[in-house]
Amino acid sequence: MRVLSGIQPTGRFHWGNYFGAIKQYIELQQAHEGFYFIADLHALTTVRDATTLKNYVYDAALDLLALGLDPEKATLFIQSDVPEVSELCWLLMTGTPLGLLERCHAYKDKEQRGIKVDAGLFTYPVLMAADILAYDANWVPVGEDQVQHIEVCRDLARSFNAHYGEVFILPEARIVQGAAKVPGTDGDKMSKSYNNTIGLFEPAKEMRKKIMRISTDSRPMEDAKDPETDHLFLLYRLFATEEQLAEVHAMYLKGGFGYGEIKKRLADAADQYLERARAKRLELESNPDKVREILRIGAEKARVKARAVLDRAKSACGLKH
Ligand code: TRP
Repeated sequence: MRVLSGIQPTGRFHWGNYFGAIKQYIELQQAHEGFYFIADLHALTTVRDATTLKNYVYDAALDLLALGLDPEKATLFIQSDVPEVSELCWLLMTGTPLGLLERCHAYKDKEQRGIKVDAGLFTYPVLMAADILAYDANWVPVGEDQVQHIEVCRDLARSFNAHYGEVFILPEARIVQGAAKVPGTDGDKMSKSYNNTIGLFEPAKEMRKKIMRISTDSRPMEDAKDPETDHLFLLYRLFATEEQLAEVHAMYLKGGFGYGEIKKRLADAADQYLERARAKRLELESNPDKVREILRIGAEKARVKARAVLDRAKSACGLKH
């Protein structure tokens, strides 16, 4: 199976991004052919400062590689390095009913919140369809919020195929398995828009400070507490080994502990968990040429595939002479 997924570089990755998605994408590289890209063209719909965008894209590449994305196994590239996709996007655009896009929540949500919507945001799902179809992807691992976009992609592929003949492979959304629901520092879902995130590669000291500030209830220290309903415990679960987890689980059921103790354990477990990735990231930071080379090779591989699919699509529409 060819697995493909895109990640928008709209900020530094936080725990929610990693445990909710990235971790599972990276694991798929073991058993499948993986295509992973940094969706900088999509990010343009929100990040409109050149330096900021550049930094986000580069940081995303470093983060993914540090977290274990293996360029020997999977293809990592930057979306805009494959211009074939933008061309394919146009072909798809000419067959896209407006009503289909009007129903998409990403656009609808923003419009309802009174944010001015541009054509880029409105047609965002068509570019996403081109991303997927350009590589003959079979599986697209995504979070729940992106399933509608995969449906749009399937619709567009199906109607293109019905009109012009079999050109595109119909992809399937794979809701990421085993993805954790990651609470933020206030107990709500961790999300940049709630301002409750903890960055994955924050300096260890900063990370510890944020952990110490995670909100807790005013339960008396001696009282027992159901671990499964406590966001601090849910966060600890992400990083702890099974043994560590069992120990803390028992502490909750027994009572007689303070949240400060759990926070300290959480910070220690996070440090331990991230040790390798942090070291790998430092190594990559001191080797920017290597990172650029990985991205260049990735784009080259991706372009070969996208070129073939684009040629197929252009021939089908009568654009190849
Ligand atoms: N829209 C996706 C997101 O915000 C990112 C994305 C762009 C993507 N193109 C894609 C995901 C193609 C999967 C396949 O998460």
